[in-house]
Amino acid sequence: MFKIRDVVIDPPIVLAPVAGHTDSLFRQAIKGLGGCGLVVSELVSTEGMTRHPAASSHLTHFQEIERPISIQIFGSDSARMADSAAMVEAMGADIVDVNVGCPVKKVVKQGGGSNLLRDLPLLGRILRAVRMAIKAPLSVKIRSGWDRNSINAVEVLKLAEDCGVEGLAIHGRTRCDLFSGQSDWKIVAQVKEQAKIPIIGNGDVFAPADAERMFRETGVDGIMIGRGVLSNPWLIRQCWDYLSGKAVKQVSLIERAEFMMNFLEKVQSQSPPHIVLGKLKKIGGYLSKGFPGSTHLRARMHASRATSEFFEVVREYLAHDAQQSAD
Ligand SMILES: Cc1cc2nc3c(=O)[nH]c(=O)nc-3n(C[C@H](O)[C@H](O)[C@H](O)COP(=O)(O)O)c2cc1C
Repeated sequence: MFKIRDVVIDPPIVLAPVAGHTDSLFRQAIKGLGGCGLVVSELVSTEGMTRHPAASSHLTHFQEIERPISIQIFGSDSARMADSAAMVEAMGADIVDVNVGCPVKKVVKQGGGSNLLRDLPLLGRILRAVRMAIKAPLSVKIRSGWDRNSINAVEVLKLAEDCGVEGLAIHGRTRCDLFSGQSDWKIVAQVKEQAKIPIIGNGDVFAPADAERMFRETGVDGIMIGRGVLSNPWLIRQCWDYLSGKAVKQVSLIERAEFMMNFLEKVQSQSPPHIVLGKLKKIGGYLSKGFPGSTHLRARMHASRATSEFFEVVREYLAHDAQQSAD
């Protein structure tokens, strides 16, 4: 375990923020499977939060069982960032996290996310303003730099520490890498070596052995996993079992299919009608990855024109194909 000030993160494995996926329902499901010491909300726009707070409430909302929870904000206006941080603190977030890594054009164009990696004076103003606005622990999530010629993660770490930031997660790709190539764990190790605050390593943990290797090669205090969990919700639990020397839980096809069905039913019951079918297709697509006959299953899920048809397809798969493959 490790701590971000007084927030105990035990086990030291964090569910990464993944916009469009890691909402409260998903986070609750991952917590329920075990092994996860901290969850982080999807990124929340501070322009949106301060102008139309109700419109962001689906992003900031969480349940007690998710604790400890970090809520992540992004933006480029230090006053709005500070106001949003205070709002997030008032909502009861255990940690306030500032996004300094999002590579998406719309976010970068407005000056936020990974743009802050190439505008350290602005980043400093934002972090100081946010620090002044809250008492809660403050963390940042960064990429290694803007591009391969301007890797500055250690400089960003030092600035963050000077501004009173108490924890830092680093994804070892640059903004310009987007998701190509590999997360450079050497930079993660350099940041850890120079840090006074706890460091969370991130990028390309897709199996328990990757988790062990990241701890060993970088010396980080904790690790953060994103994409791997989307299609294998048990991954965090499996990593923790592996790291603590226990047998790694093997998940049967039937168990995976049942999890998918239960989760999709929850998504259906809690999503607004105008987005529910799209959401079911996206989540169903991820959760069925690797199922026998999943290409056909996904094509049928995607062709569904109504939620009733979507669930008929999944139920049919569960009753016939999944059972047969498991036999
Ligand atoms: C679809 C998608 C959405 C993401 N949304 C966020 C986000 O809201 N905030 C953030 O800090 N990182 C976001 N990330 C980055 C992840 O948190 C993580 O840093 C990245 O995926 C690398 O970790 P992984 O290899 O374990 O997936 C997102 C990544 C993806 C693929």
